[in-house]
Amino acid sequence: MNLRAITVTGRPFIRSHCNIMETADRNYYITTPIYYVNAHPHLGHAYSTILADAAVRLHRELGADTLLLTGSDEHGDKIAQAAEKRGMAPKLFVDEISSSFRDLWPKLSIKYDTFTRTTDAAHVAIVQKFLQRIYDAGDIYFGEFGGHYCYGCERFYTEKELENGLCPQHQTKPQFISEKNYFFRMSAYLPWLREFLENNPDLIRPTRYRAEAMAMLENGVLEDLCISRPKSRLTWGIELPFDQDYVCYVWFDALVSYISGIGWPDGSQFERFWPGEHLIAKDILKPHAIFWPCMLKAAGLPIYRHLDVHGYWLSRDTKMSKSLGNVIDPLAMAQKYGLDAFRYFLLREMRFGSDASFSEEGITTRINADLANDLGNLFSRVLSMAAKYLDSTVPAMDGINSDDSELAEPCRETMANYIQLAERMEFSLALENLWQFVRSLNKYVDTQAPWSLYKNKELDKLHMVMGGLLAAMRKIAICLWPVMPDAAEKMLAQLGCESRLGPDMPLANIEKEQASFEWLPAGLKLAPSSNLFPRMEASPKNAPASDKKDKDAADTPKIEHVDFDTFKKLDIRVGTIVHAGKHPNADRILKLEIDFGPGGKRHILSGLAEAYNPADIIGRKICAVLNLPPRKIRGLVSEGMVLTAEDDNSLTLLAPDAKMSNGSIIG
Ligand code: MSP
Repeated sequence: MNLRAITVTGRPFIRSHCNIMETADRNYYITTPIYYVNAHPHLGHAYSTILADAAVRLHRELGADTLLLTGSDEHGDKIAQAAEKRGMAPKLFVDEISSSFRDLWPKLSIKYDTFTRTTDAAHVAIVQKFLQRIYDAGDIYFGEFGGHYCYGCERFYTEKELENGLCPQHQTKPQFISEKNYFFRMSAYLPWLREFLENNPDLIRPTRYRAEAMAMLENGVLEDLCISRPKSRLTWGIELPFDQDYVCYVWFDALVSYISGIGWPDGSQFERFWPGEHLIAKDILKPHAIFWPCMLKAAGLPIYRHLDVHGYWLSRDTKMSKSLGNVIDPLAMAQKYGLDAFRYFLLREMRFGSDASFSEEGITTRINADLANDLGNLFSRVLSMAAKYLDSTVPAMDGINSDDSELAEPCRETMANYIQLAERMEFSLALENLWQFVRSLNKYVDTQAPWSLYKNKELDKLHMVMGGLLAAMRKIAICLWPVMPDAAEKMLAQLGCESRLGPDMPLANIEKEQASFEWLPAGLKLAPSSNLFPRMEASPKNAPASDKKDKDAADTPKIEHVDFDTFKKLDIRVGTIVHAGKHPNADRILKLEIDFGPGGKRHILSGLAEAYNPADIIGRKICAVLNLPPRKIRGLVSEGMVLTAEDDNSLTLLAPDAKMSNGSIIG
């Protein structure tokens, strides 16, 4: 069997020593968005906060001093209107909902350090100080302005930004409002920002969101930012320090929470932790990628280290919304499926930057396949064999070098990859990579057959195999602590290991653990058995009819895994349809000419004729696989395959959900 390097990129990437030191010396500060308090927390909010918590835990294992800030965004029209609807005074209303966020996080094993509320007196004073500083520097001016105001977005849109006269976010007609207001001279900072993004290609991750931010700067629709609202229209906000008839625009107020929460300008936490990292979803890219860096620059502050942008959770394949009744309650899910399994599912299922779909079958399948079958089974098999053959005691490995274990090198490489991917918020890939190792350990048990070694009295070999497995299982637990803190502690306890470096501390220093592969100390008492993740029954209430037919699907998941290297071989790219017409000999097929930018144009045939009129799709962005062998279909050659999504009723073209240039790689 092959236990060689397990890679996710085609070649193993081992972190350089200097990289390791850099991380260990550094303080790590990460923020989640501060959430609006017009509604209770849902799955999307929980995901961002769990991801930030996992990142913080990873950095604590890397030896960094960490700080996690979250909070609530409590000013603005939306909140004032929601309070009015409930017949409550805004302050009472925001107190209630803000605590539903604050109380939820510990129940999801999220350990935040600072919870900032924008109605806190300290925050209010800091926003005023920040405004005053920019005003004094001459970057805030008073002017008359007429603009299209969307109440949903709480912002003005320029003509150019509207789509057919409608708000691009809400598809509603904005109200034209003309009034005197204060403006932040943002336009003066845009050339600097463009250059800054060019020189810091890793600032906004993944790159598609960097490209989106660049496109915002290129298309010339950005102007100065209106940062006030007259009190005659809205009183629920922070008063401008230089004009008591105005309150501050909610985004200007909210973004400052990232520094007010750590005591800008002279607090010790600010000194130690700024600049930090921001984690958001794609919906709020613009304020974070454009407004905030310009605000920081105008105030003379360093720009954040990274802006990490994740996609959207869909309820199955639909946007979550109250009116559709498909909003997912994270606490209910964590209680139903177990907190560790819930956290694992979220971090494993969402490829960083892309949208993901949440369903109860999805979580059940992952629990059964990854947690019960792969990981749970490994622990249960190895510990029960240890009970039978080793009296549940780690054997003395006198004279046998742990580096001689076949598992030593793959374990080191797996951990190196895991750390490197997780540091970039790519937890899904990191876990996929770790699971290849878990599965390889199960195979190792099968091929080494400790039961035969015991029967044949090959005790040295038995100790070598069991010792290697136990050591590797300990490393897996250490990797998993950021994702599943409780399960990881349980795993270590079952291996008889000390479960923490100290009170309120991570399990171990993951970097040191990565560098070495050592036997567990001889004589350690192991648990006689393990049942970490019991199998889940598919939930009949939630299973779609097609799944009920095959009840076994969830019980014995038969997932055909494609290895990652095979998947990476696919060349999938964005293109634009430049010509479309009917296939002369096939009614259901359209013949397309597609521009793939630097890769040139190609002719591709696709079964789109029943779904699309050729004239309507000219100019559409599409995604296509380009390295399939050319295929002749009824006399014409197709040089690739256009990607579509299909259900019982319809077929639709797949397209990137943001402007991407032709030839962009999908993967
Ligand atoms: N108050 C602003 C943020 C100000 S930050 C200075 C805001 N609040 S929000 O309550 O609408 O939260 C938006 C964030 O919630 C997203 O960026 C994301 O982190 C999370 N999510 C909300 N819905 C989501 C999904 N359906 N999927 C994933 N995350 C989403 O915007």
